[in-house]
Amino acid sequence: MPKDPVILEGNGPRHVAIIMDGNGRWAQARGRPRLFGHHAGARRVREVVEACPELGIKYLTIFAFSTENWKRTQVEVAGLMSLFRRYIAKETRALDARGVRVRFIGDRVRLDDKLIDLMDNLEAQTAGNDGVNLTIALNYGGRDEVARATKRLAEDVAAGKLRPADVDEQTLPRYLDTCVLPDPDLVIRTSGEARISNFLLWQSAYSEYEFIDTLWPDFSASELARLCHAYGARDRRFGAVKA
Ligand code: IPE
Ligand code: IPE
Ligand code: MG
Repeated sequence: MPKDPVILEGNGPRHVAIIMDGNGRWAQARGRPRLFGHHAGARRVREVVEACPELGIKYLTIFAFSTENWKRTQVEVAGLMSLFRRYIAKETRALDARGVRVRFIGDRVRLDDKLIDLMDNLEAQTAGNDGVNLTIALNYGGRDEVARATKRLAEDVAAGKLRPADVDEQTLPRYLDTCVLPDPDLVIRTSGEARISNFLLWQSAYSEYEFIDTLWPDFSASELARLCHAYGARDRRFGAVKA
């Protein structure tokens, strides 16, 4: 596939977050089970990660499994967990070789030990890399994240490490799973749904949004490039009026 010319000149998003939606409908359109779509979706991630450096994207955060996705059938949930284990085992070496630094956000308590081991290993193995920062949101929910953060903050207050009067907009994010990441500049959701489904609630307060019809397994590096160029043309005012 021909590549789009890279003419971002520093105007592109530094942090892109993606709600990778539409795997089920993609499979359904082919008369295949939903998991077939999830496998096809997982294969798209590599191309997107590899496209980041030349688009100037330093942080890529992808929504893989939400705290609400446990409501799906046992077959789908088990299939997704197995896919995550296989994906991590298979991709660890390639991600490391490309200098990608991988982190996971979300609550690990409901995940199985084997998966947690693979996640720990991938984070540890890539901890020294300074290429693209890939963050995978797994059993992630924005409300759950804020609730967990608040619990830890309250514990620090109870322990006398933090005074209630000192809690401000800078304090709370230090307790979020994303504490070391900048806020996303651009949030993309595939599959035509115009909602954020509990993704990065605090962090995306001032993000630009793109809701596109493409189903995630059809998403490509050239579409990402197009969205990054469109982002570069937007006027981000953050509530102020330009002089
Ligand atoms: C996104 O695709 C992947 C996950 C939520 C795990 P979906 O599985 O939600 O696909 P649709 O929305 O049913 O098409
Ligand atoms: C959001 O997609 C979660 C992920 C992409 C992992 P969903 O398909 O779960 O969202 P809803 O249910 O349509 O809002
Ligand atoms: Mg969906």
